[in-house]
Amino acid sequence: METVYLEFKKQLATVDSSTALENLKSQYLGRNGVLKKLKSNTDLKTSTTEEKRAFGLMFNELKSQIQLMVEEKQVILEQKPSSNPIDLTLPGIKKAPGRLHPISQVQDDLENICLSMGFKVLGGAEMETDYNNFASLNTPDDHPARDMQDTFWLNNGKLLRTQTSANQVQTLRRYGAPLRAVFPGKCFRYETTDATHENTFYQMEGLVVDENISIANLIAVMKEIISAVFKREVTVRLRPGYFPFVEPAFELDIQCLICHGQGCPGCKKAGWLELLPCGLIHPVVLKNGNIDGEKYTGFAFGLGLTRLAMMKFQIPDIRLFNSGDFRFLEQF
Ligand code: DAH
Repeated sequence: METVYLEFKKQLATVDSSTALENLKSQYLGRNGVLKKLKSNTDLKTSTTEEKRAFGLMFNELKSQIQLMVEEKQVILEQKPSSNPIDLTLPGIKKAPGRLHPISQVQDDLENICLSMGFKVLGGAEMETDYNNFASLNTPDDHPARDMQDTFWLNNGKLLRTQTSANQVQTLRRYGAPLRAVFPGKCFRYETTDATHENTFYQMEGLVVDENISIANLIAVMKEIISAVFKREVTVRLRPGYFPFVEPAFELDIQCLICHGQGCPGCKKAGWLELLPCGLIHPVVLKNGNIDGEKYTGFAFGLGLTRLAMMKFQIPDIRLFNSGDFRFLEQF
């Protein structure tokens, strides 16, 4: 009986249509089927009543098992698509291609703009020395400016760079003057996150060094880059700022693109938006970069890429960028 059951099961597995199932069913349960023969071929004449009963029970069990399996298979076959599975009139399945992260989009944009203006686009390490991140930038050990940036210190005595400015002196030393370079990248600060603060964010640092570089050059270049990013003419203004590696230091604001300086919720009624800090490179930094400060001057700027992406795409919470949330990312 067991061989019958196993053989049936084996054959059932190969069945792939209702007709084949029907055939198998009659092959086993039909009038001249395997089960009938099993019954008639079993000689029970000399068996005891006990043995006859046991056979009867097993036989009935086998039969109902087979019936049940046939019914189950029937259900499965009915759920299968028709034998012609390709319906050319159905709309296609849309593939979801990957896309660039909004910060990468802004970064790509900026890199292309700067390349077209004759800048080199450079990289830089994320793990840095104290010298590159602070000391070389006119920020000695006991300088209060260190408190402006909370730092992730590493066990090896190095740190996660808090600013792309960490590449300034290295770039000056490597390429010398005259120089036009930008270096975008990831920065880190040890701070509590909220809608406008993240511990991991992106900046793009820029350096221009040449003879007779003045604040007028700084303003012109910044205006050009920012107008290209926003794809329209922007109005800028400078306010005094403070950063140890530039002198004078400025905060560059752009006139609000929504209200054109009238004041609206987008600019918190100020009419202006703070966009990027910048200034003329401090003589100490030029010296650390082996640049002849008598002959050359320059300016530096530190554009917050994350902040720029927030403005460009009107994103209200900085934490969305690193969230990896598809509902957010799919919008770009
Ligand atoms: N590194 C500064 C920061 O992260 C930003 C900055 C300010 C960069 C002035 C500059 C600059 O190049 O000139 O806060």
